[in-house]
Amino acid sequence: MNKPVIAIDGFSSTGKSSISKIIAKRLGIVHLDTGALYRGITWFAIQNCIDDDQKINLEELFASFKLINLEFRNDEGELVLYLNHINVSKEIRTKEVADHVSFIAKQKEVRDFLLETQQSLALKGGIIMDGRDIGTVVLPNADYKFFLTASIDERSRRRYMEMICLGMTTDLETVKENLITRDKIDSEREIAPLKKADNAIEIDNTSLNKNETIEKILSFIKK
Ligand code: DC
Repeated sequence: MNKPVIAIDGFSSTGKSSISKIIAKRLGIVHLDTGALYRGITWFAIQNCIDDDQKINLEELFASFKLINLEFRNDEGELVLYLNHINVSKEIRTKEVADHVSFIAKQKEVRDFLLETQQSLALKGGIIMDGRDIGTVVLPNADYKFFLTASIDERSRRRYMEMICLGMTTDLETVKENLITRDKIDSEREIAPLKKADNAIEIDNTSLNKNETIEKILSFIKK
């Protein structure tokens, strides 16, 4: 069998990216964290397209797409996001980016800009992509589709621990509020909302650890 195309969608902090990364290694396929692309655009906008009133100027952002070069480079086995040839993997995880990314990701122009990039990467097969609209819009013909969920408290705890480990200062309540707001914007937006594809397998991993979730997903994949 050809190497599979796998779509993993779901709510923020359900472990989609870290789980996908390990599954990719186990299956010998590539992993693409599509959220990083939206975060990369958001970081660019914060750096370059801020009005005097401190708001992101969308028209300026859309007009700047031709200046944006987003690529993933292989740094010792890890795919790391480079924006205009600079490693921005740390910058895209800041609170500033988290606070704006859903607003940026709901713009049709932004989604159109990133759609082709994502689809072209899957043409040769052998890829696992995680995001919000992979099974529904980006790769509707994926060989396998999964939809991850977990309780809001468990997701907040995971995201909080991740931020603390990255050396950021925050508190659990702030993290929870950000997740709730993002989930709401992501699920309610007009274009490509966060939604389980009809034929996706739903996995609630509130009480599963990372390895258990990985094994569960792999149990559905024919070797
Ligand atoms: O997975 P993440 O938290 O890094 O994603 C950041 C934001 O990007 C999230 O709030 C929703 C958006 N996103 C999206 O709209 N579509 C995707 N395929 C991936 C992410």
